Amino acid sequence: KKVLLSGIQPSGDLHLGNYLGAIKNWAELSDQFDCYWFMADLHTITVRQEAAELRRRTLTQIATYIACGLDPEKNTIFVQSHVHQHAELGWVLACHTMFGELSRMTQFKDKAAKHADNINAGLFTYPCLMAADILLYQPDFVPVGEDQKQHVEICRDVATRFNHLHGDVFKVPQPYIPKAGARVMSLNQPDTKMSKSIPEGCVFLMEKPEDIMRKFKRAITDSDTERCVHYDREAKPGVSNLMSIYSAITGESYEAIEAQFEGKGYGAFKPVVGEAVVELLRPIREETQRLLADKAYLEGVYRAGAEKAAYVAEKTLRKVYKKVGFLPR
Ligand code: TYM
Repeated sequence: KKVLLSGIQPSGDLHLGNYLGAIKNWAELSDQFDCYWFMADLHTITVRQEAAELRRRTLTQIATYIACGLDPEKNTIFVQSHVHQHAELGWVLACHTMFGELSRMTQFKDKAAKHADNINAGLFTYPCLMAADILLYQPDFVPVGEDQKQHVEICRDVATRFNHLHGDVFKVPQPYIPKAGARVMSLNQPDTKMSKSIPEGCVFLMEKPEDIMRKFKRAITDSDTERCVHYDREAKPGVSNLMSIYSAITGESYEAIEAQFEGKGYGAFKPVVGEAVVELLRPIREETQRLLADKAYLEGVYRAGAEKAAYVAEKTLRKVYKKVGFLPR
């Protein structure tokens, strides 16, 4: 069986971009592949966090993964910090990653601009840890949204460099980017990706239906004169974003959506997209809440997940330590 792996930082409450760009596709793939899904909490502390909130979000994220259809019996679900091999391989890979390569990462540049008072070394070496997350499990594919493509590419470069120096140790994985939903934009700023940092343009998975509807009704559409529902990312980014959300949920093509709303305008389209999102998220929200009431179950899931992950990760780490010349324990 081919292996898949991906993770999400519990740095904010999960949102529609995380769902359509990542988790939805994971659930669809999880029957055919051997899958590892984790909470990237080590990555999260590159930005200052409130400890109790980070713990709450990490647990909620585990519940949401399960609520979105990742069956813990078939998927390995774990918390990154519970598997110490990530930090250990991260160090070795940091010693195989160049300063110049890291300086070119757009996520680093964005975050350094946003958190100018805390441009710490972890933020800079972030891609080395992410490469370790991936390479420990020798996956074939890494399903992520568009914004993580550059990180998977540097992971491939580092793996190739390491293999070149030390023989074939790592499988060089491919990014796997969905056709629809790979780049969900902010509802009120359709030139920026949807993220928790612009809460008014962001739909959180646990949000109340009336709040979701309000955000969709207020979504910025475009100021062109014929207010027709037509897909054009350049000229009509607002309505195109709504169309891509609607298409990712219903599976309908842009042509079909255009035909359905012909002559109806934005006013009719926005609440329809809102309703589709509300109905999509309702069972996920309810199931997440139900699971959160059973902490013992969730603990069982992440402990078993960490044990299984560590077993696989240790095999790769031992190989790496041998190749670089560490004395065996
Ligand atoms: P993170 O936590 O920012 O996002 C998690 C996943 O959600 C996707 N995503 C989006 N997709 C579409 N539209 C959006 N607006 C949107 N916002 C987020 C991301 O592409 C991602 O797939 N560095 C990673 C976490 C990570 C990781 C890994 C991922 C750490 N180690 C190893 C894969 C493999 C990150 O910050 O994603």
